[in-house]
Amino acid sequence: MSQLASFVVVANRLPVDRVTASDGSVDWRTSPGGLVTALEPVMRQRGGAWIGWHGAADEQVAPFEHDGYSVVPVPLSAAEYEEYYEGFSNATLWPLYHDTVAFPEFHREWWDAYVTVNRRFAEAAAEAADEGATVWVQDYQLQLVPQMLRELRPDLRVGFFLHIPFPPIELFLQLPWRTEILEGLLGADLVGFQVPGGAANFLRLVRRQTGLKVERDRVQVTDSHASVSRAYPISIDTQGFADLANTPEVIAESEALLEELGHPKRIFLGVDRLDYTKGLRQRIRAMGELFEEGKLNPAEDVFLQVATPSRERVEEYKRLRDDIDLLVGRINSEVGGIGRPAIVYRHAGFPRQTMAAMYRIADVMVVTPLRDGMNLVAKEYVACHPNTGGALVLSEFAGAALELKQAYLVNPYDLNGMKAVLMQAATDPLKARERRMRALKKQVKANTIDHWADAFLGDLAGLD
Ligand code: ADP
Ligand code: F6P
Repeated sequence: MSQLASFVVVANRLPVDRVTASDGSVDWRTSPGGLVTALEPVMRQRGGAWIGWHGAADEQVAPFEHDGYSVVPVPLSAAEYEEYYEGFSNATLWPLYHDTVAFPEFHREWWDAYVTVNRRFAEAAAEAADEGATVWVQDYQLQLVPQMLRELRPDLRVGFFLHIPFPPIELFLQLPWRTEILEGLLGADLVGFQVPGGAANFLRLVRRQTGLKVERDRVQVTDSHASVSRAYPISIDTQGFADLANTPEVIAESEALLEELGHPKRIFLGVDRLDYTKGLRQRIRAMGELFEEGKLNPAEDVFLQVATPSRERVEEYKRLRDDIDLLVGRINSEVGGIGRPAIVYRHAGFPRQTMAAMYRIADVMVVTPLRDGMNLVAKEYVACHPNTGGALVLSEFAGAALELKQAYLVNPYDLNGMKAVLMQAATDPLKARERRMRALKKQVKANTIDHWADAFLGDLAGLD
């Protein structure tokens, strides 16, 4: 990095992943997940430096310019990938922070790798940041960075945003390294959460675990440093998605998709990373039963589910992949015509344009996580669907449900309840669906990614 940056984002992922093909050729691909979808337009607009890992182990990559900002790759060894990323981040913290919907594993060597890698990210940020710069640390993989950075560079203004839920104190306290994580986060001047409940859980924990003085949302950490905790619900580049969905290319792609699906009367759509928090097992079972009971007709209805491969070597993810393959296979072997499956399932990531084409043609968007920090897919559907006739079925346990109140809300653990709401969403009179969708569109237009970044960074700049 030649030039120091006055605005620095630090995230586990860079906006692009470096991918080496079997013939040895190297390519860069958009990284998976909501964090990149959300932050990439922020960086394009503001400029600065994005510090993160480039998605491949045991590779050193030099910094480069991308879409008007600097990209600073942080290397991970194969052992760190296993212990810090797959292990502590995704087999300890991820399940623990998502209501323990899978069992978190606690291993001391994973923790050691987490500390080592967090220190590397903190050092990279300290090196890239100009005097008095703002550094915005992102997500659960880097919770120790705020405090490390404060020690290295007390002149910086440090923000932290957690993209996933912050768990109830009763679950968080299982963590053998709970004090260290807490101290790490309190290094930030401002700690942001997706929903007010996350900020409340965090502040309750601080009160219970530390002797620090807490006044409303402000924790006095040392004589000279206070840390504030608040909720900032994240969003998307709403207009960008809406414009993309209205391009001739996307319209043509959506027509080709309809043709490929055999022009069904109704399309139900699921779009997720293949993750056990997303409620895929429950969703597929509910849809399968609706087909089996004849409430949905495979000659007219189709359920299209696309799932991006994710964390593929982690045990729970392997198990999930097998379960979904089995479930879909079983349902399609029992219902549907030859050449006309009831469930069309693809285990793949697609370009943004194809996602927009899918959102355009989906009559019922089905978003049923067991727990989710926000869920941007729900907002993308609302932004991309071209008219107000579509319906969004949304889990109560997604952060987005607090804002998208006019969605058809479901409890994904209640299969019969979910089936009833799916049918309601599919059969409600057009007027009822339109009323809901109009309100949803208004919501995502009024609360965009710019509002999120402006609110967080405005507060961070204004703290005394
Ligand atoms: P998470 O961050 O947990 O993955 P979100 O719903 O917040 O969940 O964000 C997921 C992002 O990944 C969205 O921007 C969505 O468009 C994208 N995405 C999800 N599934 C696919 C897929 N199969 N192909 C391409 N992009 C996908
Ligand atoms: O928002 C949740 C999140 O875990 C991000 O931190 C992450 O970048 C994304 O989902 C995708 O997960 P991963 O980086 O492990 O592929």
